[in-house]
Amino acid sequence: MTSSNSPGARGKFITFEGIDGAGKSTHLNWFAEQLAARLASQGRQVVCTREPGGTPLGERLRTLLLEEPMHLETEALLMFAARREHLARVISPALDRGDWVISDRFTDATFAYQGGGRGLSIDKLAVLEQWVQEGLQPDLTVLFDLAPEVAAARLAGARAPDKFEREPVAFFARTRAEYLRRAAQAPQRFAVIDADQPRENIQVILEKILINV
Ligand code: TYD
Repeated sequence: MTSSNSPGARGKFITFEGIDGAGKSTHLNWFAEQLAARLASQGRQVVCTREPGGTPLGERLRTLLLEEPMHLETEALLMFAARREHLARVISPALDRGDWVISDRFTDATFAYQGGGRGLSIDKLAVLEQWVQEGLQPDLTVLFDLAPEVAAARLAGARAPDKFEREPVAFFARTRAEYLRRAAQAPQRFAVIDADQPRENIQVILEKILINV
């Protein structure tokens, strides 16, 4: 019998999500180190990547997306354009090799930010999702959930805010609500973590997730 951890098996795809200021990037690095140590004995690697970005073209699109004002549909289309490139050049080849991929954001962010935050039709986004991903979904999505007021206070003064980070608290309240709606729709894929607790507590929760993934 071939288990998902046996040599030759396809790798797993894990995504980290949350509103700006929820702390996902810090935890992602720690989680990736733990996972890499666990997979090393199987000869598998962990590929850490991010969206928008993850490829040379995707990173150029990221700069535009985070800096330039644009029509909201243009924004969604560019997110998916960057994602198409990311899937074709990085994510799918890594999974095919048997490596595991951890992405700092993926399509749930588009539903949350462009759909929830900006109000773009969820149905239109679902069409693009199907086109670009052809049914591929993360095996696990870790959602760092935090009240937008708390997230805003964490971000204040940290560094020059980008286009999204300049959005008001109400935008992030809508973004968070859409993340939670998607998590409720796919509970088998999502692990929702209350991000309003000390880092050590969150690491304990992540360790449990790691054991079961
Ligand atoms: P983020 O992941 O928060 O990176 P950093 O921690 O370096 O700021 O920045 C990416 C921003 O892009 C974030 O504000 C969310 C936004 N975004 C979308 O609006 N839609 C998407 O589909 C993705 C992937 C990101």
